Amino acid sequence: MRLNQNTLLLGKKVVLVPYTSEHVPRYHEWMKSEELQRLTASEPLTLEQEYAMQCSWREDADKCTFIVLDAEKWQAQPVPTEESCMAGDVNLFLTDVEDPTLGEIEVMIAEPSCRGQGFGTEAALLMMSYGVTKLGLTKFEAKIGQGNEPSIRMFQKLHFKQVAVSSIFQEVTFRLTMSEAERQWLLEQTSHVEEKPYRGGSTEPH
Ligand SMILES: CC(C)(COP(=O)(O)OP(=O)(O)OC[C@H]1O[C@@H](n2cnc3c(N)ncnc32)[C@H](O)[C@@H]1OP(=O)(O)O)[C@@H](O)C(=O)NCCC(=O)NCCS
Repeated sequence: MRLNQNTLLLGKKVVLVPYTSEHVPRYHEWMKSEELQRLTASEPLTLEQEYAMQCSWREDADKCTFIVLDAEKWQAQPVPTEESCMAGDVNLFLTDVEDPTLGEIEVMIAEPSCRGQGFGTEAALLMMSYGVTKLGLTKFEAKIGQGNEPSIRMFQKLHFKQVAVSSIFQEVTFRLTMSEAERQWLLEQTSHVEEKPYRGGSTEPH
């Protein structure tokens, strides 16, 4: 989505930056993992296909993608490359043409060493806050593989409730409708977040 091309969201543990060609090689390496393919219901792509995908995501009006960087690594001196700080990604899809206020959210913390430290939670919160305040979303959905306990628990802790089970796809659908109370909760959870212009790359000091 073009809207987020110049946006950087700085949280406590993670930094969200737009998905650029600089991130493609490491992203492609991650997605060779059969476990990640299974957990994210993704097909393996060649490196060329991944570059094409990165371009198309950038143009797609119905998809918003950020790469999740490890904030501690990213803030180190001397300034590291973004590629070396990559932890995962977070996506929003506008899945219902009839209802542009519904966003499907996906979170992946691909680096095993980055898991279990609150990165996934903060990345999801930052993205939801972006969705509510910038994209006008009022409902979120997450489709999760039935056996994916870490992801199910994470979305439950983020106030999502199970609304459907598909035995065909072996997935559960979780939903969160942003009532005024949920909106206040989300804005409180993300009150520390700083939005900055994204310049791309990391050769300049932050
Ligand atoms: C699911 C995933 C995004 C969680 O991200 P994370 O940064 O590791 O999770 P967090 O540290 O923010 O943990 C949030 C909550 O998730 C749950 N959780 C995380 N890892 C867990 C694990 N290994 N087992 C059980 N619950 C777990 C816990 O409830 C945790 O809260 P707590 O620490 O207060 O108990 C990450 O493990 C991942 O990307 N896995 C592979 C890809 C995937 O499954 N993506 C989801 C597709 S829908």
